[in-house]
Amino acid sequence: MSLLDEVTRIKQEALEQIGKADSAERLAEIQVKYLGRKGAITAVLKGLKDLSLDEKKTVGAAANKTKAALEQQIKDAIEAFSAAGEKTGFDPTLPGTRSRVGAIHIVNQVIDDICQIFHGMGFTIARGPDVETDYYNFEALNFAPDHPARDMQDTMFVEGDRLLRTHTTPVQARTLEKQQPPIKIITPGLCFRNEAISSRAHVAFHQVDGFLVDEGVTMADLKGALVAFCKAFFGEKLKLKFRPSFFPFTEPSAEVDISCFLCNGKGCQVCKQSGWLEILGCGMIHPNVLEKAEIDSEKYTGYAFGIGVERPAMLKYRINDIRLFFNNDIRFLRQFG
Ligand code: DAH
Repeated sequence: MSLLDEVTRIKQEALEQIGKADSAERLAEIQVKYLGRKGAITAVLKGLKDLSLDEKKTVGAAANKTKAALEQQIKDAIEAFSAAGEKTGFDPTLPGTRSRVGAIHIVNQVIDDICQIFHGMGFTIARGPDVETDYYNFEALNFAPDHPARDMQDTMFVEGDRLLRTHTTPVQARTLEKQQPPIKIITPGLCFRNEAISSRAHVAFHQVDGFLVDEGVTMADLKGALVAFCKAFFGEKLKLKFRPSFFPFTEPSAEVDISCFLCNGKGCQVCKQSGWLEILGCGMIHPNVLEKAEIDSEKYTGYAFGIGVERPAMLKYRINDIRLFFNNDIRFLRQFG
């Protein structure tokens, strides 16, 4: 290989390494390797003295040109690195940006709170399907086929005798069929009704039903459990009112109102000046419901209750539109994360 070719080869090799260099430090190394005192180009220049005059001219000119070109390339590349550093303003000592992790949805937080309170009273959780049969949603719960109470629950039918459950009470019927007393269960879950969607009503919502079946269970037990629950969930100072009501699956039936915890019963916008908030339905399990599940209603009695989730959540957290729970607007959800 002629010396001229050698200069060309060194130049190509150096340019290739400059192109691949990933830091200013690496470029400084390349500079030393080719242009330093013991560098490849320097060696060629040092050897010129042994060449013929002709060769000195051609090789000398090429080596000097290469030296100048490489110096410029390296200088430019080093500048490019420092400019990039200034532009990004990268400071490796700054703390990193924390990435947000997901949080439990506020509805599920409230369900967990409710379940936790009843768990403390010895209840365990049972679940059932969202798509129910007419039997468990209605018939097993003592709704006769033509019972007008079916109208109260604007049912969405799927096909045949299948429907979207309108309440979580069917899990009661399913559990009673499978287990023998004593039974102490709560049943959180999603329910569906064909309602006009508004700030106060939605087609999908959650409930937690609960029930206890054993020997000698009375309405006093029901009252004790619900008073304890409402105070734990809404606050100790609360007053409760048991108002007679009707459900096909309980007899007697009641609805529970709590004194408005926003105005302490004085009357405000939320309680519509009444001082009371309607919070749940309850009662003593109808003997027909026990008998359908082949539980001896002479020997056993039970109480049951059903609590909506969204409404108490709206009251507790002052949320004025039920649709916010389902819109998945991250600005809303983050307030509870
Ligand atoms: N299932 C009823 C509803 O959706 C609520 C209810 C009332 C549930 C009384 C119960 C109960 O378990 O005993 O309106």
